[in-house]
This record gives sequence, C-alpha cells and structure tokens, in this order.
Amino acid sequence: MNVLVTGSKGQLGLELSELSKDYKEYSFLFTDKEELDITSAKQVKGYFDKHKPGILINCAGYTAVDKAEDDIGGAMLVNARGAGILAGACSVSSCLMVHISTDYVFDGNGCKPYGESHSASPRSVYGKSKLEGELEVIFNAKRSVIIRTSWLYSPYGQNFLKTIINKASRGEDLRVVFDQVGSPTYASDLARAIMDILPLIPETARGEICNYSNEGVCSWYDFARAAVELAGIDCKIEAVLSNEFKTRAKRPHYSVLDKSRIKKNFGIKVPYWRDSLALCLKRLT
Ligand SMILES: NC(=O)c1ccc[n+]([C@@H]2O[C@H](COP(=O)([O-])OP(=O)(O)OC[C@H]3O[C@@H](n4cnc5c(N)ncnc54)[C@H](OP(=O)(O)O)[C@@H]3O)[C@@H](O)[C@H]2O)c1
Repeated sequence: MNVLVTGSKGQLGLELSELSKDYKEYSFLFTDKEELDITSAKQVKGYFDKHKPGILINCAGYTAVDKAEDDIGGAMLVNARGAGILAGACSVSSCLMVHISTDYVFDGNGCKPYGESHSASPRSVYGKSKLEGELEVIFNAKRSVIIRTSWLYSPYGQNFLKTIINKASRGEDLRVVFDQVGSPTYASDLARAIMDILPLIPETARGEICNYSNEGVCSWYDFARAAVELAGIDCKIEAVLSNEFKTRAKRPHYSVLDKSRIKKNFGIKVPYWRDSLALCLKRLT
C-alpha cells in the first residue's frame, strides 16, 4: 500500500522518513511543497490519480504562529484550504487521511487535561486555521483520523529545544516563561504512534480525533532547564511570566492533552517527556 506523506521536509515528516525503514509493508511517497503543493487542487488531483495512495499522512502546515497573525490568508490557505483539498482527494480515491492538528485549537484557560470532545475556542490565527482544517477533514474525507499534538520538537528544523540549546551553547543567559504549561512531544514518538495506529484504524473512522503528546506535564521553563541539564551545559535560566515576554500571537497558558483515547483504543504506550528529551538530545549533540 502506498503511504503519501505531505510536508515531509518538516519536523514530523522527516521523523516519519527516518522511521519508514521499520515499516517495510508500506511504500512511502515523501513530498513537500516543491513536489506537491497541497493548496493546488489541480496538483493534488494529478498526484492522487498517478500514485493512488491508500493512506495520506498530512504533515504539511503553516506553523509560523506569530507570522500567521499578520498573514491570515497564508495560514488559512495551507492549514484550512490545503487540508480540505487533500480531504476531497482522499474521499474520491478511498484513501485514509491522517491529519495533524494542535493544542492551539483550545483557548488554554483550562486546568485539567483537554479531552478530544472539549469544545475548541482558538485564540490565535494559527489555532483558528488549524480548527478550520479539522472541520475540512471531518466534512470532506470519508475515512479520517485527526491527531492533535503539542510542543513538537525534534533534531530537525526550528523548534524551542534547538533554540534553547543553541543559545545556551553560545553562553547566553536565558529567560523562559513558567506560566505556560503543557506536554512536549518528541516528533519521533509521534511518528511511531502514527505508524502503529495505521493498521488499527476502523473502516468507519471519520474525523475521529486522538490526542498525542509525551507523558507528564511541565512549563517551558522546566523544559528548558531539563534540556540544558541533560545536555550538560552550564547556563543561567531566569523564570519569567508571559507578560514579560510579549509575542505577536497569544499562547495557551494550559495545553495539556488527555491521551486516554489513543492509549485505550490503539494500545499506544506513551513515553515520559524527560526520557524522550534525553533521546532527542543524544541525536542533537
Ligand atoms: N511545531 C509544533 O509545535 C506543533 C505543535 C502542534 C501541532 N503541530 C502540527 O503538526 C504538523 C507538523 O508540524 P511540524 O512541526 O512538523 O511542521 P513544520 O516543521 O513547519 O513542517 C511543515 C512542512 O509543511 C511544508 N508546507 C508548507 N506549506 C505547504 C504546502 N502548501 N504544500 C506542501 N507542504 C507545505 C513546510 O514547508 P516550508 O517550511 O517550506 O513552509 C514544511 O516542510 C503541522 O500540522 C502542525 O500544525 C505542530
């Protein structure tokens, strides 16, 4: 069976590419926007007609959260319209669509882990565009699963972990917020979870949402502290409040996801965030 991965040069796509050697039962088609721009209905139709994927893992996304505040059209085009175009193509060709979404669909005002059925109420353009994307998938793809994740990091691309390690290695002192709490997600763990649930997704699944992040909870400050400690870097980190650290887009204060569903329905074992962080750092340093 052909598994198409869109946005495959991003963090999650590259981890799927890395893992693909362990899943020889599939033939993988890795594409990014040069080969397959998900916002072009014509390109998507042509690609599906030619390659006939049985499964699509959509890792493509407009992920520049702050930039999106001033580029609503750009974020909506990729995260909502692009998801809708892919969902339509999947529906026509009976392809299972696995779509990746985010904790940013919630307002972040909660204080207990968000279940999949908690009402969405995004506070940022990025979050709104991802929620629109979810709806596009639910309405347009006949068979689909949406995986919401949070605080994604990996040895690839731009992410919080790499920023912290780079700055700390240059001897810079750091200021990191401690009033935003959530669960980091090692993209490699998420990639494996996605691959492991594929054969277990029911024929009737349509817009089934599953949360996935690593186990445990921390603040960005805790995450940064753990990262420099595990990397063996001596560095001062000051814990600051979000209002001392202005960003263009509003960040959720609480974005812990309840992962009971993916564990119960698919038997997924979720690694503890510090253990996964240590594994990622071994690859980074
Ligand atoms: N990063 C996080 O903390 C986080 C948290 C929760 C959920 N998510 C979601 O998880 C998914 C994967 O995230 P990630 O961190 O792996 O993202 P990423 O590293 O930004 O990768 C996204 C990839 O999609 C590509 N892309 C953008 N527009 C495209 C288009 N029109 N057609 C095809 N490809 C396109 C990007 O190319 P360019 O880089 O050239 O634009 C990039 O290679 C996304 O859906 C994201 O919203 C991410």
